[in-house]
Amino acid sequence: MTAQIIDGKAIAQQVREQVAAEVAQRIAAGKPQPTLATVLVGERVDSATYVASKQKACAELGMGSVSHHLPADVGQEDLEKLIQKLNASREIHGILVQLPLPAHLNEERILSLISLEKDVDGFSPINIGRLAQKGREPLFVPCTPYGCIYLLEQAGVQIEGAHAVVLGRSNIVGMPAALLLIGKNATVTVCHSRTRDLPAVIRQADILIAAIGKANFVRGDWIKPGAAVIDVGINSVPDATKKSGHRLVGDVHFEEAKEVAGWITPVPGGVGPMTIAMLMKNTLRAAELQDG
Ligand code: GUN
Repeated sequence: MTAQIIDGKAIAQQVREQVAAEVAQRIAAGKPQPTLATVLVGERVDSATYVASKQKACAELGMGSVSHHLPADVGQEDLEKLIQKLNASREIHGILVQLPLPAHLNEERILSLISLEKDVDGFSPINIGRLAQKGREPLFVPCTPYGCIYLLEQAGVQIEGAHAVVLGRSNIVGMPAALLLIGKNATVTVCHSRTRDLPAVIRQADILIAAIGKANFVRGDWIKPGAAVIDVGINSVPDATKKSGHRLVGDVHFEEAKEVAGWITPVPGGVGPMTIAMLMKNTLRAAELQDG
């Protein structure tokens, strides 16, 4: 069996086109331009690249973006003041604080300060708490897990009643992905580095979300035949055939897994493009909540 490849690039492009059309309509109707504020602390190259991509996406979709880049040694108080200023600004609809923050900063406190209507990453404790509770709706869902679920739904994978296994329990991906799947009536198992006999647990998965950041970790014979495999990993591995000397691979051994799975996302071109597309969707929603 060869899996159906879920084309995240194409699905992300559809989301972006929808968002761009709605942004254009809002602007034509005289409403303020939906605008995202990004906050980057320090000099991590990966974080700077992600933030630059988010700003580029805003420009491409007709949205505004305002960038704040603070030194790695910025004090907690100064960062909190910036968040409060952005909360109060009528021009800013969404606030994105790129994670991880340097260790001396209190991340939980910073995330809890972001006003709920502007929490386009969905990381505020109140949004996450609502995601975890029955009958409560978060205003925003974290972008990467939101993208994973969107891909499953677009591919026509049945979530309700399925056994979903989430590999990884991070605040950014694994844990919110598990909560979203529970909300969609899947039966969910969360695995991590200390899970016993991981292959046996993963073999039970109708849906596998792999988010542990280990290159080619999940092997083909761990996959249940016909399963839907969503690979969140983006890992760089040496590759002498490439000009750059490396290439990107996921957490799942794609070549092996595609022979067994029913659906699979590639890396690159799977979940990656969805994160930014969902951030744009959330920022548009933030503008709708604030300006009508
Ligand atoms: N760091 C890695 N992924 C993310 C994300 O989706 N949002 C933010 N703010 N930081 C991240």
